[in-house]
Amino acid sequence: MLVFEKVSEIQQFISEKRQSQSVGFVPTMGALHEGHLSLIRKCKAENDIVVVSIFVNPTQFNDKNDLKNYPRMLNKDLQLLETEKVDIVFVPSEKEIYPEPDNRIFDLEGLDSVMEGAFRPGHFNGVVQVVTRLFEIVQPHKAYFGEKDFQQLTIIKYIVKKFNTPVEIIPCPIVREPDGLAMSSRNLLLGSNERAAAPLIYQTLKKAVELKEKFDVESLKKWVYDQINSNPFLAIEYFEIVDDKNLQPIKSWDEKNNKVGCIAVRAGNIRLIDNIRF
Ligand code: PAJ
Repeated sequence: MLVFEKVSEIQQFISEKRQSQSVGFVPTMGALHEGHLSLIRKCKAENDIVVVSIFVNPTQFNDKNDLKNYPRMLNKDLQLLETEKVDIVFVPSEKEIYPEPDNRIFDLEGLDSVMEGAFRPGHFNGVVQVVTRLFEIVQPHKAYFGEKDFQQLTIIKYIVKKFNTPVEIIPCPIVREPDGLAMSSRNLLLGSNERAAAPLIYQTLKKAVELKEKFDVESLKKWVYDQINSNPFLAIEYFEIVDDKNLQPIKSWDEKNNKVGCIAVRAGNIRLIDNIRF
């Protein structure tokens, strides 16, 4: 496994390889878990060369404390990636990714004004800054993103189409803990009461799907709010049922679109997100 810190070095190495071999890419912020590993395994099965990046991107953190507390465990991550037989790991410094401050503002046509975008101003602009920069450097044929971050995945697909970036975006299903909690690096930061309460999020989403025939959209949303907020360790930020293409809230079950229910919940200081198909 090769570990690169410098943009120039990884660029040179990959640009030679990609002439004759397919390059798959999994961008991450580290503190790797089975969710990340599922992307890496899929990437490995579908490409000759697997590149994983680990970079905690400051421009996508709207909350300074979140950035400061984000779990970092590079040595453990590198050991895991070695076991997975990853070919290349890219661990750039902030200066390598942003030699100059990145002032680009992306028009995401409202995909960033709902849900995570509404609660985390500037977050998706930062995500797009780093992902476009990483794509420029790695130039992968395919890149793998988790459906856990459904809005992020939708925005990345949109931006790749808009800029005609020659990379295929591969969505990967959500990986969960045995009790149903969606895996996340931030789960490590949960207190014991909050961790014990957190499986209620997915339980509620599953029940909501079952109840869909019995309620109209607004009443079902209210039911979800009440379920989550009835637990003293959880507070709901939003639950929206949206069209999976434009992310706009649906009004009726009769609409002929694919629907996904997206939720964000505060568990103490930690924000947890999840989603489910309706
Ligand atoms: P990070 O949270 O480290 O996630 C890296 C990738 O793993 C993302 O595509 C995310 O959706 C996926 N992932 C995380 N938990 C998952 C789970 N439980 N099941 C399936 N996939 C999961 O997302 C980011 O980093 C950053 O925003 C990044 C894209 C790297 C840009 O900085």
